[in-house]
Amino acid sequence: MEKIGILTGGGDCPGLNPVIRAAVRKGLLEGYEIIGIKDGWKGLIEANTIPLTIDSVSGILPRGGTILGTSRTNPYKKEGDVQKVKDNFKKLGLYALIAIGGEDTLGVASKLHKDGLSNVVGVPKTIDNDLSATDYTFGFDTAINVAMECIDRLHTTAESHHRILVAEVMGRHAGWIALEAGIAGGADVILIPEIPIDIEEVCAILKKRHARGKNFSIVVVAEGAQFKKSGMVLQEEKLDSFGHVRLGGIGETLAQQIEAKTGFETRVSVFGHIQRGGSPTAFDRVLGTRFGVKAVELIKDKKFGKMVALAGIKIIDVPLEEAVKALKTVDLELYENVAKVFFG
Ligand code: F6P
Repeated sequence: MEKIGILTGGGDCPGLNPVIRAAVRKGLLEGYEIIGIKDGWKGLIEANTIPLTIDSVSGILPRGGTILGTSRTNPYKKEGDVQKVKDNFKKLGLYALIAIGGEDTLGVASKLHKDGLSNVVGVPKTIDNDLSATDYTFGFDTAINVAMECIDRLHTTAESHHRILVAEVMGRHAGWIALEAGIAGGADVILIPEIPIDIEEVCAILKKRHARGKNFSIVVVAEGAQFKKSGMVLQEEKLDSFGHVRLGGIGETLAQQIEAKTGFETRVSVFGHIQRGGSPTAFDRVLGTRFGVKAVELIKDKKFGKMVALAGIKIIDVPLEEAVKALKTVDLELYENVAKVFFG
């Protein structure tokens, strides 16, 4: 019986368990044995696995996070780890591997595929929605719904206290969460990494809004947004094992600037990991399920080095390297022609 390994890497995200469940159910139907690799690539470096049966995936569809655990381990970071991954792949008797992750996890999968570990397929996961070659990643829909609900809740306090409330959302270097949660939540200004912040313009919009009788405002800012003028970026320079800066803090700086320049009382709310937690939406459960089934079909058809993807309403496959070669940043037309209509 051929054996498939499944791993989840990078930040956890709602929808991972539906993918695992679907891949296990479809895999068993097709006659494969399935094992779970614990904590992303770390589990393959250490040969840390668990069997996955129909019982082990029962009841996990509505659960957030990942039953396999995750880590931001990069086997290309430490000398010898890639060899350990390859050796363990053999030792565990694996025929193929399903790697579920974002640009980092899938970047490793793509490299391994070229470096001789050929029987790999990928599944695109991230709340940031920043992967090329797929219209949506699972996790994003849940994150924007959570952020939208938080924005709705900020409205009541902003209005009652006549304040400006700044909401800092995740999304790394892409503004998808800010843009879509901001539109859905009726934000008065949305600031994204793709367009440097012009603080004077932001304050002018807010003053104009207040001048027409609105004495509160909601500003949504993406964690990766930057000020136009240098010297105003206050973000921690901590790097993870993939070399990413740990973002966060822009909301506080922005709130201070807005209050100083407009005189309106301004507070900040950082939504943080709440956006990544909890039960996946129906959209993410269905997308994750379709991705999990398709991943097994790719293995069955020997279509290795591919990633499952959403194109319109169809699930297709694309080369893994396509998916990781460039970050999918915000559609500026959506920002300029739709979001901005509601600014101020
Ligand atoms: O990629 C998902 C994400 O939540 C980003 O939006 C955020 O910048 C990052 O992960 C936070 O990572 P961590 O949970 O490791 O702090």
